[in-house]
Amino acid sequence: MSSMAERAERAGIPVHTFDLENDQRFGVDPFAVWDEAASVAPLFYSPAGRGFLVAADYDTVKTVLQNPRMWSNLPSTITYTKEDVEMDVPPITMDPPQHTAYRKALIPLFSPRAVAPLEPRIREIAHQLCDEIEEAGECDVMRDFAGRLPAQFFLEWLGLAEGDVRRMYQLAQAATFDFPTQEQRTAIEAEINGIVGASITARRAEPADDLATAFTHLRVDGEPVEEGLLVGMATLAFIAGQETTSTQFGWMLWHLGRVEEDRRLLQERPEVIPDAIEELMRVYNTGGPAGRVAAADGELNGYPVRAGDRLFLARCGADRQTDRQVQLLRTPNRHSAFGLGIHRCLGSHVARIEMRIGLEVWQERFPDYRVPADFVPQFRWGSFMQQLVSLPVELSPATVA
Ligand code: HEM
Repeated sequence: MSSMAERAERAGIPVHTFDLENDQRFGVDPFAVWDEAASVAPLFYSPAGRGFLVAADYDTVKTVLQNPRMWSNLPSTITYTKEDVEMDVPPITMDPPQHTAYRKALIPLFSPRAVAPLEPRIREIAHQLCDEIEEAGECDVMRDFAGRLPAQFFLEWLGLAEGDVRRMYQLAQAATFDFPTQEQRTAIEAEINGIVGASITARRAEPADDLATAFTHLRVDGEPVEEGLLVGMATLAFIAGQETTSTQFGWMLWHLGRVEEDRRLLQERPEVIPDAIEELMRVYNTGGPAGRVAAADGELNGYPVRAGDRLFLARCGADRQTDRQVQLLRTPNRHSAFGLGIHRCLGSHVARIEMRIGLEVWQERFPDYRVPADFVPQFRWGSFMQQLVSLPVELSPATVA
């Protein structure tokens, strides 16, 4: 049987090395690397790692995500690494019909109605963090605000506020940014499983009004969920709840701290913050990486797909390619930052609330913050995301004690 590279050549699909694992430019300007990929072709082949197709425009990404029969999440290996590293984070690591049943069970835990009552607590935490920043008189947004608000809130919701918060954040980071060996990946997941499993067990004995307790009541097709799967789903929430939202929120404050016009717009018209969040997610798409595996032979953009072919969704480049200019009031706003298909982000409602409240509180407390003109950003990147390493900001003297 011909290799993926040979089939690409025969079908006229370009070959371009897109190498998340080794391309150091991701640490300097990740968006330039995504934009370069998007400019190659809507679909190309990358010989990096074990070799994979790259879907690099919005329509191709959408086609793949909306065809889960053809494009499977199994086996759930990290698409672009040299080593074959399998993950176990249900329901991402499931296909229909199993996925359909589990997702249906999870939806009520994260629905708009379920998460709306969390708003006051999120606002309270945001203000507490701003109090600390005010007192300190200086701030690194990633260290003191964007990197803390989601983690603090989410760990509390998962019944873990009393635990070793620093270690739990490190674990979420390792699960997100490391390019691990199988041994390391298994060890990271096992440690997180142990932490969230203990919280679920504690809530069985002593229920509370929180997400950990909601997990204890979860039923799939009317039946209790096998413990390993239940804990695996809580583990995914642990990782996504801390790291993804922090990272995405950091990008927003980075943009607004540099572009005065946009900062002023949101101060004058806070009611447009939700629109601005969508646009900033589109342009600074955090959760770039995601992969799929062909479940059957078929065709994509003229490429003859064979069962087992790996495909990588370059969502970040694809979303930016539709227009690289930031227009905070853009409507409609098509983006794939929360996914587009059956695995679309279950945490999107709570993440949007966190980012909206975070922005509201931040601009109320520090309306004139700015990123220093000589700041040179550095980026952490890895298996699932790209993140600002730090974001020092100048606060308005009037707001600093
Ligand atoms: C701004 C923050 C977030 C972003 C950008 C984001 C992004 C994504 C994306 C792109 C997917 C789809 C993956 C795919 O199709 O392969 C996804 C799935 C998922 N996300 Fe999020 N996420 C965020 C926050 C959260 C939070 C706070 C939670 C907390 C519960 C969460 C839980 C999930 C779950 C459970 C799935 C899997 C859904 C399924 O497989 O059916 N996410 N997320």
